Amino acid sequence: MNNSFDINRARRDTKACEDIVHFNNAGSSLMPIPVADALRSYLAQEEMIGGYETVEAQTDALQKFYASTARLLNCKPTEVAFVENATRAWDMAFYSLRFAEGDKILTSIAEYGSNVIAYNQQVARHGVELVFVDNDEHGQIDVKALESLIDDRVKLISITHIPTGGGLVNPASAVGKIANAAGIPFLLDSCQGMGQVDLDVEELGCDMLCGTGRKYLRGPRATGMLYVKESFINELEPYVLDQHAATLVSPTEYTIREDAKRFENWEQFFAGKAALGTAIDYAMSYGMPDIQHRVFSLGGELRKKLSDVDGVTLTDEGVQQCGIVTFKTAQKTPAEIKTRLREKQINVSVSGGSGGLVSFQQRGLVDVVRASVHYYNTSEEIDYFVTSLRKVLV
Ligand SMILES: Cc1ncc(COP(=O)(O)O)c(C=O)c1O
Repeated sequence: MNNSFDINRARRDTKACEDIVHFNNAGSSLMPIPVADALRSYLAQEEMIGGYETVEAQTDALQKFYASTARLLNCKPTEVAFVENATRAWDMAFYSLRFAEGDKILTSIAEYGSNVIAYNQQVARHGVELVFVDNDEHGQIDVKALESLIDDRVKLISITHIPTGGGLVNPASAVGKIANAAGIPFLLDSCQGMGQVDLDVEELGCDMLCGTGRKYLRGPRATGMLYVKESFINELEPYVLDQHAATLVSPTEYTIREDAKRFENWEQFFAGKAALGTAIDYAMSYGMPDIQHRVFSLGGELRKKLSDVDGVTLTDEGVQQCGIVTFKTAQKTPAEIKTRLREKQINVSVSGGSGGLVSFQQRGLVDVVRASVHYYNTSEEIDYFVTSLRKVLV
């Protein structure tokens, strides 16, 4: 790991750094210049020569997406699908599994709301049993409790790596070990981990993993990806097929692709796909271990400084905490804080509602301020944030 992170380069490449303090990276981060340029130049070519013709002209850039994602996740390009967002990527994996009455799904308290809705749909449709594995005393999934719940009825272990509304990093590799030992498919939602955490699918032991482009990867909106382990692809017949995912060979027969592109649509956001490849290469040019180290350190620094502010209660859980910092205050609602900080050119968001409902209800939380830092943020910005918050809270 390199201890001298090139912050000058990161800020030079991030135009908006001059004008705003962007602590909403878990929502959608700021695209760096090379990514925005890749997106614009692709669209400009579409404008000038036509969409289909641009696909031909940009074959290398479009293929690069697969090679780059494979490098990012330590997998093969053929194990990667381009999908329009993390939710649909997750759906393509989840809804392709076949559940029967009595099957069990084990999941985490930190689970993302859309995933919980999908589980419950399977409960209603097929009589599946949904089990939320308890957290341990640190607020992360209790791996011992998970292990004790394994039996023949468990057909899926599916957890969220980093929740949408908190700094928790669930011990995904420990969960993967349990799943692998029991031969149970493991689906990991690492939407908030992608670009923030150094992800290695071998080490995580996951069979399926989803991610999004616009958050920590700094790619364009409406881009995402699904990883499916090679040995698992054939077991996962997509719940929808088109003529990109499959080939019609006669009026009554079709064959399904052998690679992960079976989870893709024929029509795609090609400009976004090319730019997402650039975003991944850009992240890799800093190195994921260095990015993770810097983001987690800045998150820790922000938490420490916030803990000195009167009326602030931090709401992050977990042994390891990431760049997503959440808190509530005695003085103001999260919505008021968000609005008042915006007047000071600081972007944060409010977490509540469906996204982290299971965990929030268990902890008696309604909503919290989410201040999520990225590697291009600085200690000076953290100080400005804390000073501004103190003023807002008066
Ligand atoms: C943990 C988690 N999973 C999934 C999603 C959904 O991602 P997308 O909006 O790309 O579908 C989010 C978005 O906030 C998330 O935080």
